[in-house]
Amino acid sequence: MKKKLITLTMAIALTASLVACSDSSAETTADTSENTNASEATQTLVMATNAEFPPYEYHDGEDDQIVGIDAEIAAAIAEKIGCTLEIEDIAFDSVIPEVTSGKADIGMAGMTVTEERKQSVNFSDSYATAVQVVIVPEDSDIASIDDLSGKIIGVQSGTTGDLYATDDYGDENVERYNKGMEAVQALSQGKVDAVIIDNEPAKVFVEETEGLKILDSAYAEEQYAIAIAIDNTELLDKVNAALAELKADGTIDSIVSKYITVE
Ligand code: ARG
Repeated sequence: MKKKLITLTMAIALTASLVACSDSSAETTADTSENTNASEATQTLVMATNAEFPPYEYHDGEDDQIVGIDAEIAAAIAEKIGCTLEIEDIAFDSVIPEVTSGKADIGMAGMTVTEERKQSVNFSDSYATAVQVVIVPEDSDIASIDDLSGKIIGVQSGTTGDLYATDDYGDENVERYNKGMEAVQALSQGKVDAVIIDNEPAKVFVEETEGLKILDSAYAEEQYAIAIAIDNTELLDKVNAALAELKADGTIDSIVSKYITVE
């Protein structure tokens, strides 16, 4: 009997890996032998994110739910691959470690594909493009990226904005914040001279804050993609297949247009 139970548990674990979601239910379903399908229904796709990044992921509404473009695309992917989405809100710096350690299945956080990150995770096909922009006070003497040298630049820690600022203007000129909005608040309080951040959150933050503007000159285009553990190629394939379908049937476009109005 004991042996049978072990075999059953293994069978369920195997099913779990076949559908490529986290198997959070093998333990509890092992003894309800008539119900092997239940494990499939309750499999979760754990998404690590940093929900301080509107319109991609942020807290909203009475129940403070995590909403946004990434949250909705992830839910659509989860549905396609037969999993329930579970979102984990952590520091941006921790998103990739959460994926490499296997605690999360995917990292989705308006995350830019970079060569350095590709050393530790695989990226799905891209689902969005972005650029890093510069936010300054309306009356700033900074008119373009070229005027930034020697200025104090606020960034969200560990982001590509942080990387660019550190590489181009030196560590001593960079102030790092846990949230992009905190960097923007520091800017409006005169604690930093400029903020480098992705264009879409920049628009939201500038909208919400008096007296700031976005410079016309911006950094090169970046691609957003979903981070997945390097050894989990099965999930990578499923996510890419789901993304392709969601692009083809217009789901991605309709999610994006719910959150971003093209001017
Ligand atoms: N695109 C930038 C990067 O990958 C910023 C992403 C920040 N995302 C977030 N959810 N806070 O570094």
